[in-house]
Amino acid sequence: MALRKLVAGNWKMNGTRAALAELGAIADAAAGAPSLDVAICPPFTLIDAAIAQAPSLPIGAQDCHHAEKGAHTGCISATMIADLGATYVIVGHSERRADQSETDADVQTKAWAVLAAGLTAILCVGETEAERDAGKAGMVVSGQMQGSVPPAGTADNLVIAYEPVWAIGTGRTPSVRDVAEMHGLIRAKLDELLGEEGPRVRILYGGSVKPDNAAELMAVPNVDGALVGGASLTAALFVPIIEATA
Ligand code: G3P
Repeated sequence: MALRKLVAGNWKMNGTRAALAELGAIADAAAGAPSLDVAICPPFTLIDAAIAQAPSLPIGAQDCHHAEKGAHTGCISATMIADLGATYVIVGHSERRADQSETDADVQTKAWAVLAAGLTAILCVGETEAERDAGKAGMVVSGQMQGSVPPAGTADNLVIAYEPVWAIGTGRTPSVRDVAEMHGLIRAKLDELLGEEGPRVRILYGGSVKPDNAAELMAVPNVDGALVGGASLTAALFVPIIEATA
């Protein structure tokens, strides 16, 4: 089943207010590609201003706390993100799994919080290079899905992003065949975990997506869009990716 594609930019810990100048051209490109969804996930500090600057462009966060509120100094809840008018929250990014030791169970509770706040979770999974070399990529990703996908996930509130850790920020990408194999495995796991919703949940590919490889990657079966890091920071790189996907 061909699903409506989503191209989302993850700005990570990049961007001060000056970076918002990129949003005009990105919003224009999104408007010129009505057959797909486009979103930008800037740092928390820019969400409010990004929504004000580009009201037509869906904006997301890169993480949230699992609780709605309480004594968690420095943390931000999904409810607070929803209150700003955001649409998406990335959960389980490999950089958080590594830097903040987030487990599958942590990721699942965060995903629950995102759904409860009425937002859409972009839930990341992906193997390390050592795991791939050991022939364990499928097992690792399947285990991450089993442990972190919220059973209440639907096509409207959940997106999966497959991001092989070794492809992030390295300029390396898996072969088309490997992407197809992993996205097929993720699709089968979604069917197992979510039943009839499984075939409708979008599966993004992330990891060194650039203007020159986007069209090839986006044409792979079960690739329903992209989660883009470095190349989403400037309209000059992100707009061609949107155009290659449309
Ligand atoms: O979440 C996006 C990401 O991790 C990929 O980053 O810079 O390789 O596109 P990049």
